[in-house]
Amino acid sequence: MSIKIIGTGSALPQKTVTNYDLMELVDTSDEWIKERTGIGSRHISTGETLVSLTAEACGKALENAGREAAEVELLLVATCSPERGIPCAACQVQSAIGAKQAVAFDLNAACAGFLFALNTAYAYVESGIYKNALVAGGEVLSKIVDWTDRGTCILFGDGAGAVYVEKSDNGGVLGFVQHSDGTRGDVLKCDSRALKNPYVDQPMETEYVQMDGREVFAFAVRQVPASILEVLSKTGNSVEDIDLFVLHQANKRIIEGIAKRLSINLDRFPVNLDRVGNMSSAAIPVLLDELNRAGRLKAGMKLVLSGFGAGLTYGACVMEW
Ligand code: UT7
Repeated sequence: MSIKIIGTGSALPQKTVTNYDLMELVDTSDEWIKERTGIGSRHISTGETLVSLTAEACGKALENAGREAAEVELLLVATCSPERGIPCAACQVQSAIGAKQAVAFDLNAACAGFLFALNTAYAYVESGIYKNALVAGGEVLSKIVDWTDRGTCILFGDGAGAVYVEKSDNGGVLGFVQHSDGTRGDVLKCDSRALKNPYVDQPMETEYVQMDGREVFAFAVRQVPASILEVLSKTGNSVEDIDLFVLHQANKRIIEGIAKRLSINLDRFPVNLDRVGNMSSAAIPVLLDELNRAGRLKAGMKLVLSGFGAGLTYGACVMEW
C-alpha cells in the first residue's frame, strides 16, 4: 500500500523580472547570473500572496485530479514565507478553496519543505488516518529578500505548486529518506519578527535572507547524491531504473554537479530554473506540474524527487508515476 499523485497544479505571479531588470537594482550582469546559476528570469509578486498563489495551485491540482475541494481530508502547505504567523497559510488556503472537512496545517523545512510535507502526507494516508491529501509548496520569497544584496536577490522567485494524493495499491511512492542538520543552520537564514516587548532594552533589528552561497553549494553537491543513493538502495533501485530526477531548482551548476557525481546524463534532470529561479518549497511541485501538463510523465515511469536547503534539510523519494 502506498500513495499516488493523482493531480498537479501550479501558479506563478504575473510579473516576470529578467536579469536585465535586476541590473537596474544591483551591480550584476545577465552573463554573470546565467553562468553562475543558469537563471534568466523569475516571477515576482506585485500583489499575489502566498495564499492566493497556493490556493490557485491547489484548485488546479484538484481539477487535474477530477476531485472536489470538499473531499480533501488533509491539506498541507510547505512554506518559509507565510504572510501571517497565525492563522497558518494552510487554513487560509482551506478557506479560499472550500476544503471544508480538511485538517490543515503548515510545515517549514525551507527548500526541502514540499518533500517533507509529501512524506508527512504519505505517513497519514498510508496508515489510513486520512484517505487523501492536498500537498502544496508556496513561497513569496521576494518579501524576505534583500533587494540590495546581489548575492541573493538574483536567485529567488515567487510561486506555488500542489499535488493531490490518494492511497494506491499500484505504484506511487516507493520510499523516502529525510535528513536535518541544525548545527549548520547559519549558512542560510532569515529572521522572523524580533523580540520587541516593553521589557527588552535594546530590540534587535530583523535581517533579510542571509546566505553563505559557497557553503550551501558544497553541501548540496555532497549530500544530495548521497541521499539519492540512499533512497535508491532503500527501495531496491539503481540509478539506471530512474527515468527522471526531479530536483530542487536552486542552481544549474548544482544540478550538473549532482548528475556528474552520480554519473547520470543531464537529460534525465528536467530544469525550469532558467524561467522561474529558486522558489524554495514551490520548486519541485511547480516543475512536476509542468512535466505532467507537458505529457512527460507516463504511467509506470520511475521518478526521484530530491529537495535540499536551509536547516540544513534534505531528502529524497522514489515514486512510480
Ligand atoms: O535553495 C538553496 C538556496 N541557495 C543556493 O542555491 C545557493 C548556492 N550557491 C550558489 O548558487 C552560488 O554560491 C552563488 C550563485 C550564490 C554565488 O556564486 P559563487 O560562484 O559561489 O560566487 P561567490 O559568492 O564566490 O562570489 C564570487 C564573486 C564575488 O566577487 P569578488 O569578491 O570575487 O570580487 C562576489 O561579490 O562574484 C561576486 N558576485 C556577483 N557578481 C555579479 C556575487 N553575486 C554577484 C552578482 N553579480 N549577482
